[in-house]
Parts: sequence; C-alpha cells; structure tokens
Amino acid sequence: MNNIILFIVSAVSTLLAIFFYLRVKRLKNLSDKLSRQSIALSKANEESQKKTEGIMDSFSSPVLIIDKAGLISFANKETKKLSGTQDVEGNNYIKFFKDAEFIDAIQHIHKDSVPVEKEISLNGQTFIASFSPSGSSGDVFVSLRDITAERELEKIKKDLVTNMSHELKTPLTAIKGYIETLGEEVSPEQKKYIDVIRKNTDRLINIVNDILSLSELEKAKNIEFAQIDIKEVIDAVLKIFDGKIHEKNLTVRTDIEENRYITGNRFKIEELFINLIDNAVRYTDKGFITIKTFRSNNSLHISIKDTGIGIPEKSLPRIFERFYVVDRSRSRETGGTGLGLSIVKHIVMLHKGTIDIKSSIDSGTEVIVSLPLSAKPS
Ligand SMILES: Nc1ncnc2c1ncn2[C@@H]1O[C@H](COP(=O)(O)OP(=O)(O)O)[C@@H](O)[C@H]1O
Ligand SMILES: [Mg+2]
Repeated sequence: MNNIILFIVSAVSTLLAIFFYLRVKRLKNLSDKLSRQSIALSKANEESQKKTEGIMDSFSSPVLIIDKAGLISFANKETKKLSGTQDVEGNNYIKFFKDAEFIDAIQHIHKDSVPVEKEISLNGQTFIASFSPSGSSGDVFVSLRDITAERELEKIKKDLVTNMSHELKTPLTAIKGYIETLGEEVSPEQKKYIDVIRKNTDRLINIVNDILSLSELEKAKNIEFAQIDIKEVIDAVLKIFDGKIHEKNLTVRTDIEENRYITGNRFKIEELFINLIDNAVRYTDKGFITIKTFRSNNSLHISIKDTGIGIPEKSLPRIFERFYVVDRSRSRETGGTGLGLSIVKHIVMLHKGTIDIKSSIDSGTEVIVSLPLSAKPS
C-alpha cells in the first residue's frame, strides 16, 4: 500500500515537474520573443527618428523644437549654422534666440497653445518665424524663413521712390511758381491750358508730398508725444476746408466731449484729420459731415461720418493699400492720390490705435479712429 502511495506521489511530482518545466520554458520563449520584438521596435524607433532628423537636416532653413522647460530638444543643421555652434541641443533657447518677439512668441504658445507667426531679427538677418504647438507635450516646433534679401530689396525700392520724390520737389515747386505768374499774363483761351497744367502740377506735388509723408512715417521713431486737445485740432483742420465745405453747401456738425485730450504727436494727428476730413468733403456732394467723440476703455474714439457716395463692400478690405482708389477718374479729378488712407493707417499705428470703416453705397461712410488716451511713442 505504502509503495502504491509512494509511486503515486512520485508520479504526480514528476508530472508537476514536467508541467512546470514546460511552463517555464514557454514563458522563457515568450520573454525571449518579447525582448527580440522590443529590440526590433526600439531599432525601428531609432531609425524613424534618424529618418525624421535626416529630413529636418535636409531643410535649407532652420528648424528646431523647444520643450516645455524652454530647452532645445532638437536643432537641424541650419539652426546650428545660424547659432554658430554644434552645441545647441540641451541649451535654453534664449541663449541663441534673444529677439524680444521670439521670446514673446514662445511664452505665448506655452500659455495658449495657438500657432503664431512673427518677423524676427537674428545676427543682422530678418526671418519669418512660425511657431506651432506639438500636441499636448508642451513642445514648440519652430521654423524660420530668411527674408533678409526681400526686405533689402523692398528698402532699395522705397529709398528709390523717396529719393526721386525729393528730387522732384524742387523742379515742381519752380514750375508751379511760373504757372502762377504766367496765369496772370495770358489770354482767356490760353488760361484754359494753364489751368490744366496747374491742376496736373498740383496733383504731382500732392503725390510727391504724400510719398514723402509715408516714408517719413515708416521711419518714424522716437517722435515727440505731448498732450493734445482733439477739439483744437479738429477746429483748426475744419478751417482749412471752410471754402470747399461752403462751395459744396455741406453742413458740418461737431459733438466733441469735454474730456477729449490724448497723448500723441500734434503734427501727425493734424495730418490724420486733414486726410479724413478731406475724404469726407471730397466724396460727399450733399448733406452732412458729423464729427463726434466718445470715450471707453482708456481710448478716445473719434467718428467722422458723411452722407456721401460710400464705398462698395468689395473695396473695403483694400482701402488702406497704397494708391488704391475706388473710382480712379473721380479721385484724379478731385486731386486725390490714393495715399491718404495709407498715411492715416500709419499715423494710427504710430499711436497704437485702431481704425474702422463702415460704409454703404449712396448713403455714406463712417470712419472711427480709436486712440489710446496716453500712448507712448514706439
Ligand atoms: N469718406 C469717403 N467716402 C467715400 N469714399 C471714400 C471715403 N474715404 C475714402 N474713400 C475711398 O477710398 C479711396 C482711398 O482713399 P485715400 O487713400 O484717401 O485716397 P484719395 O487720395 O483717392 O482720397 C478713395 O479714392 C475713395 O475711393
Ligand atoms: Mg484721400
């Protein structure tokens, strides 16, 4: 009996041993397979990362990734070239990208995760930098496009136009002077021709002055800001247009509140109103011009509203472009240049304000300029 029990026990333990041996072997096989798979996977991962880096290195412009902590986790060849060192990865981005706009963009994107595009300067070069958030990791993908050559070409073009305008000014002033003298000495028949010459000379002088005004505004830095009484400026500008307003039989209404002082450049603000009131008078044949001010959110809003010909909806987005006019013959006939609203926009930007135009054909136009009460020159 004992022998039988012993045999059963030994048989069961042998079976158990075989069972566990097989189980362990299977587990080992499984673990070997898993580890082989994991090696293959990490190899594939490495290869794919190498491939991505290779692609990024082949880009002819700088590309980099900045992590949540502000460290550069990847920089392609062009980024290293731009930074003047191979040792870029692992450093804080501020070490290589000190431009205030760049820093501002990274801080914004870390906060809002919204893509941004900015013009930045690095080592004397100008770039368009695109910043995109990469998923939820907090990484920011940055790519730079060198636009130095484009900007230089633009500057050459602008300088050429400005220099030409300067050169044209003196002979044009001389021609105008002689026309005035001639006008008094000729027959009525000849006077008609003289009038045509005078009108075209005035147009040329207007264009030259507007181009010079714009180029001066583009370069404007550290211009003088002081307290300005908007009512005083508007009254002075309305006086300039007194004759034309009477001639066209227009009614001017003003509603300017007591608290109407802003900080700005007196000369530029006057230029802004000359252009806006000129447009209101020029493009209105009958009715009213209403000038109102109101305050909100630390800004003074000035509305200049007319009952004139209005601007077609499709033209509104282009109205601030240089030389853009809706009706070329009307603008030309009345001495316009198509530069007035570009000048206005520049002056508004110089004061960190905004401008809005509402208009409908045949019923009129309203321009609302909002200026911060205490802007500082940029
Ligand atoms: N108050 C207005 N009413 C109707 N059209 C306007 C008004 N202001 C501007 N415009 C349109 O916008 C164009 C651009 O204005 P602006 O830059 O001042 O040039 P312009 O020298 O022709 O007045 C004008 O040619 C005109 O077609
Ligand atoms: Mg104008």
